[in-house]
Amino acid sequence: MTPSQTYVLAIDQGTTSSRAMIFDESGEVAAVDQVEHEQIFLRAGWVEHDPIEIWKNTRKVIGGALAQGNFNSKHIAAVGITNQRETVVVWEKSTGQPIHNAVVWQDTRTQRLVDELAGDDGPDRFKAVCGLPLATYFAGPKIRWILDHVDGARERAEAGELLAGTMDTWVLWNLTGGADNDGVHVTDVTNASRTMLMDLRSLSWSEELCEAIGVPMAMLPQIRSSSEVYGECKPGVLNGTPVAGILGDQQAATFGQACLEPGTAKNTYGTGSFMLLNTGTEIVESDNGLLTTVCYRLGEEDAVYALEGSIAVTGSLVQWVRDNLGLIDDAPQIEDLAGTVEDNGGVYFVPAFSGLFAPHWRPDARGAIVGLTRYANKGHIARAVLEATAFQTREVLDAMQADAERAGDRLSELKVDGGMIANETLMQFQADILGLDVVRPEVAETTALGAAYAAGLAVGYWDSVDEITANWGEGQRWSPQMDDDEVARLYRQWQKAVTRTLDWVD
Ligand code: G3P
Repeated sequence: MTPSQTYVLAIDQGTTSSRAMIFDESGEVAAVDQVEHEQIFLRAGWVEHDPIEIWKNTRKVIGGALAQGNFNSKHIAAVGITNQRETVVVWEKSTGQPIHNAVVWQDTRTQRLVDELAGDDGPDRFKAVCGLPLATYFAGPKIRWILDHVDGARERAEAGELLAGTMDTWVLWNLTGGADNDGVHVTDVTNASRTMLMDLRSLSWSEELCEAIGVPMAMLPQIRSSSEVYGECKPGVLNGTPVAGILGDQQAATFGQACLEPGTAKNTYGTGSFMLLNTGTEIVESDNGLLTTVCYRLGEEDAVYALEGSIAVTGSLVQWVRDNLGLIDDAPQIEDLAGTVEDNGGVYFVPAFSGLFAPHWRPDARGAIVGLTRYANKGHIARAVLEATAFQTREVLDAMQADAERAGDRLSELKVDGGMIANETLMQFQADILGLDVVRPEVAETTALGAAYAAGLAVGYWDSVDEITANWGEGQRWSPQMDDDEVARLYRQWQKAVTRTLDWVD
């Protein structure tokens, strides 16, 4: 059957896979295709991706999703892009060949560099300008690392022969023509706000930060809003279709969850977990270890900002238990294994694989399993794995409540999305540990949906953000049930476990 209406296609270039999803006007999924890519771990603390593999996969999933619904480019009103943030690629403008694998957001190789940059000023040296503390997480120092380690790269970058970008930029440049057809070299404000190179107020590259971090401005993409036409796909199956939305994946999920009013927040459980609180057009500095970031900017409208609590390892801990320990065959089995025991048996697992992100920002931390006795079995480990996600989220929520209270707000419930929300045990435990209702939407694919909304709004497929709010429906709600004293006891033990992971790296 040939479809009679038009749709919006979103590309979600994530940490472990690339997906294409096609949405209709009510925000329902019409087709989806997904391919995983290789995780390359060359040394402890290093994580790389092959950008060529990712671009091939992106093309494959676009074709796959179109084929599923018998769609062609005429059925697609616009394309939106969302992506794993902070992961960087540097490539040759004339050939499109990357000069190094992508250095992924979880990678800690820039540790020495960020320590040097912090110097006597400390990790908050650039925070007033870019909203971020110096940490291995962010993109700018990763670009610098590539320039310092590939022969001749710095000179070539300064001469304009090399281009740099986060994954949105890499996908967009290839989608809009690449080396042969003058690909568009653009990023959006949300991705740019994760580089440590953008001034949060002017929303442009900061000369001072680019100079200090050592990234030539000549290689950086143009910063544009999250919702406007950047260019057209060419050549390929979507030839001529406008690319009209870009949002970093966590901002996209915030948008897709209709967190459009100041004081609304969501938490996405992916490889890591990321809680974002919309703070409106105001730039709020955190006193409690959260990041200040751009939430979205629609065309010429004022930018909307957010406070963010980023947790490096949640879902990827389940993958680690599957791939590195072999305790389970597939990720959902963790729930069954955790269900074989009554409680955690005193075992706590602090997954500080990339150091600890928010609210600690301790790159010197490394993972630990503590509280082991001869009684502990694999069920207790599975339970501790799930609980680690909930405890880390509590740390971030406490920080967010403290910052929000200063602004006269308090979160009364938390919207959630991402793969791990299918885990009922975790979601109930999450509500217990937070002491808050946890709510999932009907359409759980909020990240891709957010990018689709940004693109659709730019081309008039949707008229206003009110349609996003109207499309959002509650799917399921978990309310706290656990006794307060028990919550306090468990959380106290967790906090003690965290102290055991610090000061590990010399
Ligand atoms: O900041 C990192 C984040 O964007 C990664 O998200 O969903 O790919 O794990 P995800």
